[in-house]
Amino acid sequence: MKKNGSKKTSNNGIKNSGMNGSSDTSAENSGLQELFENELKDIYWAEKALVKAIPKMIKKATEEQLITALEEHLSVTEEQVTRVEKVFKAIGVKAEAKKCEAMAGLIKEAEEIMSDTEEGVVRDAGIISAAQKVEHYEIASYGTLCAFAKTLGHDEALQLLEETLNEEKEADSTLTEIAETSINVEAMEEAE
Ligand SMILES: [Fe+2]
Repeated sequence: MKKNGSKKTSNNGIKNSGMNGSSDTSAENSGLQELFENELKDIYWAEKALVKAIPKMIKKATEEQLITALEEHLSVTEEQVTRVEKVFKAIGVKAEAKKCEAMAGLIKEAEEIMSDTEEGVVRDAGIISAAQKVEHYEIASYGTLCAFAKTLGHDEALQLLEETLNEEKEADSTLTEIAETSINVEAMEEAE
């Protein structure tokens, strides 16, 4: 992983920031701060999109364990939306969502998997694969946000972001467990 805490003071590395050649390295004005805020807006959009997308996955799933895991993650995701708002508040920035193209693509892919499969364990295995791609994207985003918050000295934000990062990791391992202990094997045994 690249170091986030560059000591360069000549340029903040963000285009059109109006900071050309400035030596101002305060957290509020740094290029890293701008990246941090952009990433936060991205994940805010992503979480809100998931609140709408997860119920569709629940509807299409059949295995009880998977339905329970998705339902639990839906309520966790609703809390995560509120938590992102708290992060905005902690850094004194207005909460604003910016379309996350990656999450939009992952959700679209999940919808395709669900329409390309018949109801049952095979579709369940597909739902898990799509959900885990979502989780991994979130783990990467929150991991980066935590690293940025740490470097920028946003302690309260860091605490909140770490909480969500841990929830995403937990959701990911729950899905792995469900897939490996039952659904994948059942899906393999399912006749075409
Ligand atoms: Fe999330």
